[in-house]
Amino acid sequence: MTAPRIPLAGVIGYPVAHSRSPRLFAHWLKAHDLPGHYIPLEIASDKLESSLRCLPDLGFVGVNVTLPYKEKVMDLADLISDRATLIGAANTLIFRQDGKIHADNTDGYGFVENLRQGAPGWNPRLGAATVFGAGGAARAVIASLLDVGVPEIRLTNRTRIRAEKLRDDFGNRVQVHDWVKAGNIIEGSQVIINTTSLGMVGKPPFRVPLDALKPGMIVTDIVYTPLKTHLLEVAEARGCIAVDGLGMLLHQAVPGFERWFGQRPEITQSTRSAVLS
Ligand code: ATR
Repeated sequence: MTAPRIPLAGVIGYPVAHSRSPRLFAHWLKAHDLPGHYIPLEIASDKLESSLRCLPDLGFVGVNVTLPYKEKVMDLADLISDRATLIGAANTLIFRQDGKIHADNTDGYGFVENLRQGAPGWNPRLGAATVFGAGGAARAVIASLLDVGVPEIRLTNRTRIRAEKLRDDFGNRVQVHDWVKAGNIIEGSQVIINTTSLGMVGKPPFRVPLDALKPGMIVTDIVYTPLKTHLLEVAEARGCIAVDGLGMLLHQAVPGFERWFGQRPEITQSTRSAVLS
């Protein structure tokens, strides 16, 4: 009798050296004392399909997907979850026993779980959300906010046409506002979210006027380098509930880990430290 195979999973991208997922998965495998390995896989674009098709034969049970392949893998999947279809991108591929590749997107789930944990009193149905940015991350954030019942999303982006495209895709609960007046739409919002790359190390600063931030508002940033962005610093100083973006990265990985390694992982302070170390 042969011993059961040790499950392998990983993250595909180009490049992947920057990915924090290998540290996160290694930490969880150790913390839960589970057999398995999680491997960064740098795959060139012209080898993406052939590589994906042979990974199951090598013992891989699935992979996470990072830039630049989140959209491209949708064309290679045999089955696509509703939420991945809605977002138009996948961050998780499950290699099924019948040989089919199932594409899912857990980014929106990770975003909402992070907010729920960071702002336990949040009732999504009770207030508007302001979203800065209309890129791939905004798609996942908006899809998940609508899914949990946020009644109104005030969306603004430097390139207005991208925001209008999101409104067309997601419907009238999304309202588009001018980027030059971005600070004004904070007024009366329950949740404020930065999905742009502004404020990230090496990128331009986040300069939206923040005078309208009021105590009790929930403010989050998907940027997590630095962990405490300018937006979150101002939010904290003004008595808002500031939720950093690292939790989104941790929570989006939970469904994949559970599926591939058979145990739902916990997110604790030591998980955060392991990823940041
Ligand atoms: P992602 O998939 O990570 O969201 P993206 O699709 O490149 O990445 O989107 C990045 C977001 O940051 C966009 O909303 C982008 O605005 P544009 O659509 O106008 O490009 C926003 N962004 C990046 N640099 C910016 C800047 N200097 N000023 C304002 N917004 C910026």
